[in-house]
Amino acid sequence: MRLFGDVSPVSDPHLARALALAEMGRGTTSPNPVVGCVIVRGGVVVGEGWHACAGGPHAEVVALAAAGDSARGATAYVTLEPCDHTGRTPPCSQALLRAGVSRVVCGMHDPSPLASGGADTLRAGGVEVEFAQDPAPFLDANESWLHLTATGMPFVRVKTAVTLDGHPGLAEGARSQLTGEEARSLTMRMRAHADAVMVGAGTVAIDDPSLTVRAPDGTPEDRQPLRVVLARTIQPPATARLFHDGIGAVAVLLPEHVAPDLALVRTGAKMVAFDISDGVTGAMRTLGAQGVGELLVEAGPRLLTAMLDARAVDELIVYHAGGFAGTVAPPLYVGESQEDPTTLVRALRCVEAGCAGGDAVTVWRPHPERVETD
Ligand SMILES: NC(=O)c1ccc[n+]([C@@H]2O[C@H](COP(=O)([O-])OP(=O)(O)OC[C@H]3O[C@@H](n4cnc5c(N)ncnc54)[C@H](OP(=O)(O)O)[C@@H]3O)[C@@H](O)[C@H]2O)c1
Repeated sequence: MRLFGDVSPVSDPHLARALALAEMGRGTTSPNPVVGCVIVRGGVVVGEGWHACAGGPHAEVVALAAAGDSARGATAYVTLEPCDHTGRTPPCSQALLRAGVSRVVCGMHDPSPLASGGADTLRAGGVEVEFAQDPAPFLDANESWLHLTATGMPFVRVKTAVTLDGHPGLAEGARSQLTGEEARSLTMRMRAHADAVMVGAGTVAIDDPSLTVRAPDGTPEDRQPLRVVLARTIQPPATARLFHDGIGAVAVLLPEHVAPDLALVRTGAKMVAFDISDGVTGAMRTLGAQGVGELLVEAGPRLLTAMLDARAVDELIVYHAGGFAGTVAPPLYVGESQEDPTTLVRALRCVEAGCAGGDAVTVWRPHPERVETD
């Protein structure tokens, strides 16, 4: 996901359309990828489809059904190499062969050992197969799926707001609304893109956030990400609004040895136990096992510190509000860095920057040199 512009434009218009269709499944396909497909015969689009939800038909099968007999001799444009294995649905490579498609143009290779091989099967069946010259936009669309497939953990995007002197709030233990309307709509975009949105129990107690995706007029959108509250010693108050608003599912992540408060159980939220022996990493592993491919964490300082120290942050988004909080305001990072100061300042590198109304937004990722030397 890019906040300010695309990774790179897709030059082929049919592949660009397939990529736009893939986005229709965003948020409901995990642990599967988002995939779109366009079938074109004689320059005319005869079928379109996208993968709508895990367990449902794949994009190619939906597009082939729409195309019917017109698929014979046609070209299928698909954002991801067609799968070659029987999972909850049969292989798409076979469906394309049966339909008599003569050419398949794919956005990117499927790296998963289980499902890859569709291109080889299609070629063996006499179908011409090509791949996009620049896979970057397709890789970007499925970054969280690729991450989940490779690590078993969600792609973690952490978002936090600070003043110009780097404070996450104006006073300890109080709610501070630092940023403006445009930054809030960016947050809505990030929530809509995520499978789950997580906060710590401390933030629930102090801010009482809804964590929902809302239209500019405040109306909740149809699709809502899973809302997750991470707790360790102190459990979130059962009176918090996210437990009672009836907008989307809520899960409370608790260490395995901690019994949830009865009042919390009575809210109907799902209680999920995680192995805390390696801190927040265990919580990430549990979310990955539950099929959460992309997690947005709206972190206060303690959760942010725990996530950074566990190297559990894949992307950090910082909103910078245009004011100064002064020395009485709480710090953003509350840990004690064990690192050599010369490498410490190379922990993250800025990959994007822009404005959201009167606020600045910077996007940071782990520095490749630091990752390589680990
Ligand atoms: N500026 C912003 O963008 C922003 C965003 C969110 C919140 N806030 C502000 O931040 C304040 C609350 O922040 P906070 O940092 O105190 O609360 P928090 O973000 O809710 O994080 C604290 C929670 O994380 C748990 N935790 C901490 N380290 C952990 C670990 N290693 N493993 C598992 N769980 C762990 C804590 O458990 P324990 O209780 O056991 O320590 C606690 O439940 C409020 O004032 C709120 O308004 C600001």
